Amino acid sequence: MDITGKTALVTGANRGLGRQLAVQLRDRGARVYAAARDPQGVDLAGVTPIALDITDPAQVAAAAQAASGVAILVNNAGSSTGASLLTGDLAAIRLEMDTHFFGTLAVTRAFAPQLAAQGSSAVLNILSALSWLSIPRSGAYCAAKSAEWSLTNALRLELAPQGTRVTALHVAYMDTDMIRHLDVPKSDPAAVAKLAIDGIEAGDAEIIADETSRRVLAGVSAGVAGLYPQVA
Ligand SMILES: NC(=O)c1ccc[n+]([C@@H]2O[C@H](COP(=O)([O-])OP(=O)(O)OC[C@H]3O[C@@H](n4cnc5c(N)ncnc54)[C@H](OP(=O)(O)O)[C@@H]3O)[C@@H](O)[C@H]2O)c1
Repeated sequence: MDITGKTALVTGANRGLGRQLAVQLRDRGARVYAAARDPQGVDLAGVTPIALDITDPAQVAAAAQAASGVAILVNNAGSSTGASLLTGDLAAIRLEMDTHFFGTLAVTRAFAPQLAAQGSSAVLNILSALSWLSIPRSGAYCAAKSAEWSLTNALRLELAPQGTRVTALHVAYMDTDMIRHLDVPKSDPAAVAKLAIDGIEAGDAEIIADETSRRVLAGVSAGVAGLYPQVA
Protein backbone atom coordinates (compact mmCIF):
# COMPACT_ATOMS: atom_id res chain seq x y z
CA MET A 1 0.00 0.00 0.00
CA ASP A 2 1.29 3.44 -0.89
CA ILE A 3 0.70 5.56 2.21
CA THR A 4 1.32 8.92 0.53
CA GLY A 5 -1.90 10.88 0.30
CA LYS A 6 -3.93 8.30 2.27
CA THR A 7 -5.95 9.26 5.34
CA ALA A 8 -5.14 7.41 8.58
CA LEU A 9 -6.60 7.36 12.07
CA VAL A 10 -4.58 6.18 15.08
CA THR A 11 -6.25 5.56 18.45
CA GLY A 12 -4.32 6.45 21.61
CA ALA A 13 -2.08 8.71 19.53
CA ASN A 14 -1.18 11.13 22.33
CA ARG A 15 1.67 9.04 23.78
CA GLY A 16 3.57 5.77 23.66
CA LEU A 17 3.49 3.60 20.54
CA GLY A 18 0.40 5.39 19.16
CA ARG A 19 2.25 8.71 19.03
CA GLN A 20 5.12 7.05 17.11
CA LEU A 21 2.70 5.38 14.70
CA ALA A 22 1.13 8.77 13.99
CA VAL A 23 4.63 10.20 13.37
CA GLN A 24 5.51 7.41 10.92
CA LEU A 25 2.25 7.82 9.00
CA ARG A 26 2.58 11.60 8.90
CA ASP A 27 6.21 11.45 7.75
CA ARG A 28 5.28 9.04 4.95
CA GLY A 29 2.77 11.52 3.56
CA ALA A 30 -0.52 10.42 5.14
CA ARG A 31 -3.14 12.81 6.45
CA VAL A 32 -3.39 11.70 10.08
CA TYR A 33 -6.22 11.88 12.59
CA ALA A 34 -4.55 11.54 15.99
CA ALA A 35 -7.34 10.19 18.19
CA ALA A 36 -7.05 10.59 21.95
CA ARG A 37 -9.28 10.70 25.01
CA ASP A 38 -7.89 14.19 25.55
CA PRO A 39 -7.18 15.63 22.09
CA GLN A 40 -5.49 18.63 23.70
CA GLY A 41 -2.78 16.22 24.82
CA VAL A 42 -1.73 15.56 21.20
CA ASP A 43 1.57 17.42 20.76
CA LEU A 44 2.37 16.52 17.14
CA ALA A 45 2.53 19.10 14.38
CA GLY A 46 0.82 18.33 11.10
CA VAL A 47 -1.86 15.95 12.43
CA THR A 48 -5.53 16.50 13.23
CA PRO A 49 -6.40 15.71 16.86
CA ILE A 50 -9.79 14.09 17.38
CA ALA A 51 -11.57 13.08 20.60
CA LEU A 52 -12.02 9.36 21.00
CA ASP A 53 -12.50 7.17 24.04
CA ILE A 54 -12.82 3.79 22.33
CA THR A 55 -15.04 2.46 25.16
CA ASP A 56 -17.64 5.20 24.69
CA PRO A 57 -20.09 4.27 21.89
CA ALA A 58 -21.23 7.89 21.45
CA GLN A 59 -17.63 9.08 20.99
CA VAL A 60 -16.90 6.25 18.56
CA ALA A 61 -19.93 7.22 16.46
CA ALA A 62 -19.01 10.92 16.64
CA ALA A 63 -15.41 10.25 15.56
CA ALA A 64 -16.56 8.19 12.57
CA GLN A 65 -18.88 11.08 11.67
CA ALA A 66 -16.21 13.75 12.11
CA ALA A 67 -13.44 11.93 10.21
CA SER A 68 -13.70 11.26 6.51
CA GLY A 69 -11.89 9.19 3.93
CA VAL A 70 -10.06 6.96 6.41
CA ALA A 71 -8.13 4.28 4.50
CA ILE A 72 -5.80 3.17 7.32
CA LEU A 73 -7.22 2.49 10.77
CA VAL A 74 -4.74 1.78 13.56
CA ASN A 75 -6.26 0.21 16.68
CA ASN A 76 -3.53 1.02 19.17
CA ALA A 77 -5.26 2.30 22.33
CA GLY A 78 -4.81 -0.07 25.23
CA SER A 79 -5.02 -0.38 29.00
CA SER A 80 -2.98 -2.43 31.44
CA THR A 81 -4.47 -2.75 34.90
CA GLY A 82 -2.27 -5.59 36.11
CA ALA A 83 -5.40 -7.35 37.37
CA SER A 84 -5.19 -11.03 38.23
CA LEU A 85 -8.16 -13.06 36.96
CA LEU A 86 -8.48 -14.90 40.24
CA THR A 87 -8.08 -12.10 42.77
CA GLY A 88 -8.23 -8.85 40.76
CA ASP A 89 -10.97 -6.25 40.86
CA LEU A 90 -13.73 -7.35 38.46
CA ALA A 91 -14.11 -3.77 37.23
CA ALA A 92 -10.46 -3.78 36.15
CA ILE A 93 -10.89 -7.14 34.41
CA ARG A 94 -13.94 -5.75 32.55
CA LEU A 95 -12.00 -2.60 31.63
CA GLU A 96 -9.37 -4.72 29.85
CA MET A 97 -12.04 -6.47 27.78
CA ASP A 98 -13.94 -3.22 27.19
CA THR A 99 -10.78 -1.58 25.87
CA HIS A 100 -8.88 -4.23 23.92
CA PHE A 101 -11.81 -6.33 22.70
CA PHE A 102 -15.02 -4.28 22.65
CA GLY A 103 -13.28 -0.95 22.04
CA THR A 104 -11.25 -2.24 19.09
CA LEU A 105 -14.35 -3.95 17.72
CA ALA A 106 -16.53 -0.84 18.08
CA VAL A 107 -14.00 1.39 16.32
CA THR A 108 -13.48 -1.10 13.49
CA ARG A 109 -17.24 -1.51 12.95
CA ALA A 110 -17.71 2.26 12.94
CA PHE A 111 -14.96 2.86 10.36
CA ALA A 112 -15.60 -0.21 8.17
CA PRO A 113 -17.88 1.69 5.72
CA GLN A 114 -15.23 4.43 5.24
CA LEU A 115 -12.54 1.81 4.72
CA ALA A 116 -14.75 0.04 2.17
CA ALA A 117 -15.27 3.27 0.24
CA GLN A 118 -11.50 3.63 -0.38
CA GLY A 119 -11.29 0.49 -2.53
CA SER A 120 -8.03 -0.59 -0.94
CA SER A 121 -7.61 -0.05 2.79
CA ALA A 122 -5.92 -1.37 5.92
CA VAL A 123 -6.55 -2.05 9.59
CA LEU A 124 -3.57 -2.45 11.92
CA ASN A 125 -4.27 -3.97 15.32
CA ILE A 126 -1.62 -3.65 18.02
CA LEU A 127 -1.44 -7.02 19.71
CA SER A 128 1.17 -8.56 21.97
CA ALA A 129 3.31 -11.60 22.67
CA LEU A 130 0.79 -11.86 25.52
CA SER A 131 -1.95 -12.60 22.97
CA TRP A 132 -0.35 -16.07 23.00
CA LEU A 133 1.09 -16.32 26.50
CA SER A 134 -0.46 -15.71 29.90
CA ILE A 135 1.48 -14.43 32.87
CA PRO A 136 0.06 -14.74 36.37
CA ARG A 137 0.26 -11.07 37.34
CA SER A 138 -1.69 -9.84 34.35
CA GLY A 139 -4.23 -12.51 33.48
CA ALA A 140 -6.91 -9.95 32.58
CA TYR A 141 -4.63 -8.10 30.13
CA CYS A 142 -3.48 -11.38 28.55
CA ALA A 143 -7.06 -12.63 28.16
CA ALA A 144 -8.07 -9.34 26.55
CA LYS A 145 -5.07 -9.37 24.17
CA SER A 146 -5.90 -12.98 23.30
CA ALA A 147 -9.52 -12.04 22.59
CA GLU A 148 -8.28 -9.14 20.46
CA TRP A 149 -6.11 -11.59 18.48
CA SER A 150 -9.13 -13.78 17.75
CA LEU A 151 -11.13 -10.68 16.82
CA THR A 152 -8.32 -9.65 14.46
CA ASN A 153 -8.48 -12.98 12.65
CA ALA A 154 -12.27 -12.92 12.43
CA LEU A 155 -12.24 -9.39 11.06
CA ARG A 156 -9.50 -10.17 8.53
CA LEU A 157 -11.88 -12.75 7.04
CA GLU A 158 -14.92 -10.49 7.25
CA LEU A 159 -13.20 -7.39 5.85
CA ALA A 160 -11.30 -9.08 2.99
CA PRO A 161 -14.22 -9.01 0.55
CA GLN A 162 -14.47 -5.21 0.84
CA GLY A 163 -10.73 -4.78 0.07
CA THR A 164 -9.62 -4.06 3.64
CA ARG A 165 -6.44 -5.88 4.66
CA VAL A 166 -6.04 -6.57 8.38
CA THR A 167 -2.57 -6.67 9.92
CA ALA A 168 -1.65 -7.90 13.39
CA LEU A 169 1.43 -6.51 15.13
CA HIS A 170 2.76 -8.71 17.93
CA VAL A 171 5.30 -7.08 20.21
CA ALA A 172 6.78 -7.79 23.65
CA TYR A 173 8.17 -5.22 26.08
CA MET A 174 8.33 -1.66 24.74
CA ASP A 175 9.64 1.42 26.47
CA THR A 176 6.35 3.22 27.14
CA ASP A 177 4.39 4.35 30.22
CA MET A 178 2.51 1.04 30.21
CA ILE A 179 5.47 -0.89 31.59
CA ARG A 180 7.45 2.00 33.08
CA HIS A 181 7.52 0.08 36.39
CA LEU A 182 9.21 -3.02 34.91
CA ASP A 183 12.99 -3.28 34.90
CA VAL A 184 13.41 -5.44 31.79
CA PRO A 185 14.95 -4.99 28.34
CA LYS A 186 12.52 -2.94 26.24
CA SER A 187 12.33 -2.09 22.57
CA ASP A 188 12.10 1.46 21.29
CA PRO A 189 8.49 2.28 20.32
CA ALA A 190 9.76 4.45 17.45
CA ALA A 191 11.54 1.41 15.94
CA VAL A 192 8.45 -0.76 16.45
CA ALA A 193 6.26 1.87 14.78
CA LYS A 194 8.61 1.93 11.79
CA LEU A 195 8.42 -1.86 11.48
CA ALA A 196 4.63 -1.70 11.73
CA ILE A 197 4.18 0.88 9.01
CA ASP A 198 6.77 -0.89 6.81
CA GLY A 199 4.51 -3.94 7.22
CA ILE A 200 1.43 -1.98 6.16
CA GLU A 201 3.26 -0.72 3.08
CA ALA A 202 4.33 -4.28 2.25
CA GLY A 203 0.82 -5.66 2.81
CA ASP A 204 1.93 -8.06 5.57
CA ALA A 205 -0.82 -9.94 7.39
CA GLU A 206 1.25 -10.36 10.55
CA ILE A 207 4.26 -8.50 11.93
CA ILE A 208 6.35 -10.12 14.64
CA ALA A 209 8.31 -7.23 16.10
CA ASP A 210 10.89 -8.99 18.26
CA GLU A 211 12.62 -12.22 19.24
CA THR A 212 10.48 -12.72 22.36
CA SER A 213 7.28 -12.62 20.31
CA ARG A 214 8.82 -15.04 17.79
CA ARG A 215 9.78 -17.46 20.60
CA VAL A 216 6.33 -17.31 22.17
CA LEU A 217 4.67 -17.94 18.80
CA ALA A 218 6.90 -20.99 18.28
CA GLY A 219 5.94 -22.18 21.77
CA VAL A 220 2.23 -22.19 20.93
CA SER A 221 2.62 -25.19 18.62
CA ALA A 222 4.22 -27.16 21.48
CA GLY A 223 1.02 -26.91 23.54
CA VAL A 224 0.96 -26.39 27.30
CA ALA A 225 4.39 -27.99 27.67
CA GLY A 226 5.84 -25.40 25.30
CA LEU A 227 4.59 -22.32 27.11
CA TYR A 228 3.92 -23.48 30.67
CA PRO A 229 6.49 -26.21 31.43
CA GLN A 230 6.17 -25.48 35.15
CA VAL A 231 2.65 -26.98 35.18
CA ALA A 232 2.75 -29.38 32.23
N1 LIG B 1 4.31 -1.28 26.26
C1 LIG B 1 4.39 -2.57 26.01
O1 LIG B 1 5.30 -3.24 26.52
C2 LIG B 1 3.40 -3.25 25.10
C3 LIG B 1 3.67 -4.56 24.68
C4 LIG B 1 2.80 -5.18 23.80
C5 LIG B 1 1.68 -4.53 23.36
N2 LIG B 1 1.41 -3.26 23.78
C6 LIG B 1 0.22 -2.61 23.27
O2 LIG B 1 0.61 -1.42 22.59
C7 LIG B 1 -0.50 -0.50 22.57
C8 LIG B 1 0.00 0.87 22.99
O3 LIG B 1 0.42 0.81 24.33
P1 LIG B 1 1.64 1.69 24.89
O4 LIG B 1 2.71 0.76 25.25
O5 LIG B 1 1.89 2.81 23.96
O6 LIG B 1 0.97 2.20 26.24
P2 LIG B 1 0.77 3.64 26.88
O7 LIG B 1 1.98 4.46 26.70
O8 LIG B 1 0.25 3.34 28.24
O9 LIG B 1 -0.37 4.29 25.98
C9 LIG B 1 -1.67 3.79 25.99
C10 LIG B 1 -2.49 4.67 25.07
O10 LIG B 1 -3.82 4.11 24.98
C11 LIG B 1 -4.73 5.14 25.32
N3 LIG B 1 -5.98 4.59 25.86
C12 LIG B 1 -6.15 3.77 26.91
N4 LIG B 1 -7.47 3.51 27.08
C13 LIG B 1 -8.13 4.20 26.11
C14 LIG B 1 -9.49 4.36 25.75
N5 LIG B 1 -10.47 3.76 26.45
N6 LIG B 1 -9.80 5.12 24.67
C15 LIG B 1 -8.83 5.74 23.97
N7 LIG B 1 -7.52 5.67 24.28
C16 LIG B 1 -7.19 4.90 25.34
C17 LIG B 1 -4.00 6.02 26.31
O11 LIG B 1 -4.67 7.26 26.41
P3 LIG B 1 -4.57 8.20 27.74
O12 LIG B 1 -3.31 9.00 27.60
O13 LIG B 1 -5.82 9.01 27.69
O14 LIG B 1 -4.52 7.27 28.93
C18 LIG B 1 -2.64 6.10 25.62
O15 LIG B 1 -2.70 7.00 24.54
C19 LIG B 1 -1.56 -1.11 23.50
O16 LIG B 1 -2.55 -1.74 22.73
C20 LIG B 1 -0.78 -2.14 24.30
O17 LIG B 1 -1.61 -3.18 24.76
C21 LIG B 1 2.25 -2.60 24.64
